[in-house]
Amino acid sequence: MYKKKDISVDFLGIHLENPFILSAAPPTDELEIVADGLKAGWAGAILKTTSVENNPVGLKYPMMSSFGPQARKVTGLGNIDLISQYHIDDIEKRVRILKEAFPDKMIGASIMGSKKEDWQGLVRRLKKAGVDLIECSFSCPQGSMGEAPGRMLAQSIEATEKVAGWVKEAAGDTPVLIKITPQVTDIVEVAQAVKRGGADGITASNTIPSLMGIDIDTFQPYPSLRGKGTYSGLSGPAILPLTLRTIAEVASNVDITISGNGGAYSWRDVVQIMALGAGNVQFCTLPMAYGFRTIEDLKSGLAHYLSDKGFASPMDIIGKALPNLKQHDELPSPYTRAELADEKCIGCGLCFNSCRDGGHRAIDWDGDGRRPRIDEERCVGCAMCMQVCPVDAIRMKEREDDWTSYFVIGR
Ligand SMILES: Cc1cc2nc3c(=O)[nH]c(=O)nc-3n(C[C@H](O)[C@H](O)[C@H](O)COP(=O)(O)O)c2cc1C
Repeated sequence: MYKKKDISVDFLGIHLENPFILSAAPPTDELEIVADGLKAGWAGAILKTTSVENNPVGLKYPMMSSFGPQARKVTGLGNIDLISQYHIDDIEKRVRILKEAFPDKMIGASIMGSKKEDWQGLVRRLKKAGVDLIECSFSCPQGSMGEAPGRMLAQSIEATEKVAGWVKEAAGDTPVLIKITPQVTDIVEVAQAVKRGGADGITASNTIPSLMGIDIDTFQPYPSLRGKGTYSGLSGPAILPLTLRTIAEVASNVDITISGNGGAYSWRDVVQIMALGAGNVQFCTLPMAYGFRTIEDLKSGLAHYLSDKGFASPMDIIGKALPNLKQHDELPSPYTRAELADEKCIGCGLCFNSCRDGGHRAIDWDGDGRRPRIDEERCVGCAMCMQVCPVDAIRMKEREDDWTSYFVIGR
């Protein structure tokens, strides 16, 4: 049924059959694999980051580790991958082959360099090969090869503006995306630097520098390579809130096209990312964990959502949530309280424990009946009980009273 709905988008002058793109990562590193992804229905792919030939890439294995509750092992995926093992010679050939085999798909390439001639040389070769879009990795958590090796390029405002300018100068009319990191003091300044440099858009964002954990028997970090470990880049659902904030801040403050990336795992995440201002969404961990067939759920879910809500195109939701995003002091002040749906409650007592020690002692516990009882006078409506209830038996209800009369410092 979803096939009847047009979910195409136009992104930086490129027509995409849907807003779902494979990001620069393992699924776009091998020709055969990326071709299968495109055949499966992904609208485009950004080939894994490449660099100048003969630039040694010291890949180390194992490179993955995961973080999350047992039920869903890959809530967060950590990797210590670097750039592609394939250098520009190979990537140039792949762009040609893929463009010929998939003329209607977006074939992008990701690059990383150090000197001006590296960046511009990479761009010229990819442009000649017919690439649709160039993405510049300014945010590899393992650091860049630029002026401050080991640091992310996008952590320097000056370098961001300068290198974006070099790339755009060589790219001409080929769109350029700069892939940034949220690991900065002010993301808006970085986005402004990208714009001043003349790049066409921002990929917001990338993996987040992390430490995936320590084995408490051996004290070895994860992933452990003969007992030694290093910092990882974290991706997957665990980072979605960081991505949402990054996109929202950029979209609210800088007039620049955004490709959303980081933590998208479902069509619902896509709607959120686009509603905050992104024009399309890139995926890596989802297809890595569950395969390319996940595109079917994304397409179907988005198509049904758009039809249900009466939107003609995914482009109609871009930025829709931004007017509702305010600074804290601009927020309204409703007075809410917790309300229990007795028929749903399973009597686990988690809300009672949480409110007793982490809330306002507004929930009493009937041990015989195994039921919480909410004290409306003590409840301030913080919603902590709602977060811990495993069966969604608690909701917040707005009170009609003026909340300010209840708010006494030191109460
Ligand atoms: C194993 C692995 C390798 C990656 N390699 C690259 C890369 O070469 N260049 C790049 O720009 N991003 C790279 N990424 C980052 C992804 O493109 C993407 O930005 C990140 O995983 C966040 O998206 P996700 O939460 O959908 O996975 C890599 C990610 C993973 C997991």
